[in-house]
Amino acid sequence: MIVIEDPEDAVPLAGALVEGGLPCAEITFRTAGAAEALRRIAGEYPDLLLGAGTVLTREQAAEARSAGVRFIVTPGFNPAVVDYCLEHEVPIYPGVCTPTEIEAALSQGLNVLKFFPAEPMGGLPFLTAISGPYGMVEFIPTGGINPENLGTYLAFQKVVACGGSWLAPPKWIQAKEFERIRQEVEAAVRIVRNATKGED
Ligand code: 3PG
Repeated sequence: MIVIEDPEDAVPLAGALVEGGLPCAEITFRTAGAAEALRRIAGEYPDLLLGAGTVLTREQAAEARSAGVRFIVTPGFNPAVVDYCLEHEVPIYPGVCTPTEIEAALSQGLNVLKFFPAEPMGGLPFLTAISGPYGMVEFIPTGGINPENLGTYLAFQKVVACGGSWLAPPKWIQAKEFERIRQEVEAAVRIVRNATKGED
């Protein structure tokens, strides 16, 4: 989950992710430079699994698509954004945190959903409870994920991925601390490998 103010930082940042062993990024539409950052990363690292986050409108979804993203993530369930993505066959992971929102997503044929904001909304106890009635849903928790709780989230069967800003905090990006980001990424990859040992 990445916030890039200056598109000049996009390619070195992507390099740190790739070298750290995590060739995947959600660049958020929280800055004016987001679309340009996406275009640069898509051009330089075509194999990186590149997505756009904080997509709040159809226009942003269209901008992300033309920049070359391979998935879109949204903080909430926005029917206009979901419809755009379904129409254009862009994988979409809308944010949910209530049964009603989960059912809205299911009614659109979506069953891999972002759980946001994970920690404030109840974390793993919430996911455990909600997986009773909604056993067909898989979750991507974000919001309050960190190296201490990442492994526990990933060990839960219904969690397919996690996201967070701790890997590349905006301050580190602005200070061009790409080596520090690479090391943080490497540490996270080790946690992921341990938590998912024995899985396919
Ligand atoms: C967000 O949308 O802000 C993200 O989910 C990241 O949350 P975090 O900063 O707690 O990792």
